[in-house]
Amino acid sequence: QSSLLHKYKGVLFSTMSSEALLDSLDSFDAREDDIFLVSYPKSGTHWVAEVIENIPNAGITLTSPIEWGDFSKFEELKVVPKRRVIPTHLNYEMIPVTVKQKQCKIVYIVRNPKDTAVSLFHYYRDNPNLPSTETWAEFLELFLKGDVVYGSWFDHVLSWEKHKNDKNILFLFYEEMKKDFVKSLKKITAFLDISVNDSEMDKIAQNTTFSEMKTNAVKENCDPNHTICALTSDKKLVFRKGVVGDWINYFTPKQRRVFDEVFTEKMQQSDVGRCLKEYTNAE
Ligand code: A3P
Repeated sequence: QSSLLHKYKGVLFSTMSSEALLDSLDSFDAREDDIFLVSYPKSGTHWVAEVIENIPNAGITLTSPIEWGDFSKFEELKVVPKRRVIPTHLNYEMIPVTVKQKQCKIVYIVRNPKDTAVSLFHYYRDNPNLPSTETWAEFLELFLKGDVVYGSWFDHVLSWEKHKNDKNILFLFYEEMKKDFVKSLKKITAFLDISVNDSEMDKIAQNTTFSEMKTNAVKENCDPNHTICALTSDKKLVFRKGVVGDWINYFTPKQRRVFDEVFTEKMQQSDVGRCLKEYTNAE
């Protein structure tokens, strides 16, 4: 466990996010037109990234996560000639101060935490960059305590929810993207101020389905410099099931009760929590 993860300010990070880089985040020089793609791991980051990359004439370059690497990272980001789309799993507090000052556009994707937990459980099992985990029961306990990579789902979502209505932030729900993809796509293009016609929309929808993305991931050679999630550059590890509600196959009634108690307590005041209730079936 210890060689793969390290604790920084109370939160677990992959050792691929060096302490030096995490220490120097505030020296990152944001550009006004930067777009940040933010999420807790396993919330649909690769999906949204693919959607944005598929927008015709968006004129963007998707970079690797801001917290991934050593502090030479910022030199690398400096030379990206086009508008940067920068993914990250950081909580709000750790986002570089210049991003906040310049009010860069931020797309935040959130997914119901039960499915997120199940997805992260599989990531822990399959991804050599994460510690192994014996059982679902054991993993769920760590998840609820926030003793997993990037810390507590609850803290992450709540830190971002405080800024949900800022004009430079767009909140997306994984479940809403599944239910009505075009609606979410329109939100994304409107937010980024890029006009896309109907046939282009159809094309984006076709290119970014789960099965299409999974097929491409299997065909693609994995390029270690082309990483969306700081926890792997191997996209084959990402496309598992891509459905809403898989949690029902994992939670025992007791685990469900314990989870719902924590959810209800932590998300008491949260609008996002209210939106997600439908999918967690919390009392
Ligand atoms: P599952 O493990 O439940 O299948 P992230 O990109 O943040 O790491 O999130 C990964 C999760 O998003 C995985 O969930 C993955 O299958 C799902 N996902 C990726 N692409 C998707 C798509 N095009 N449509 C639906 N789900 C997708």
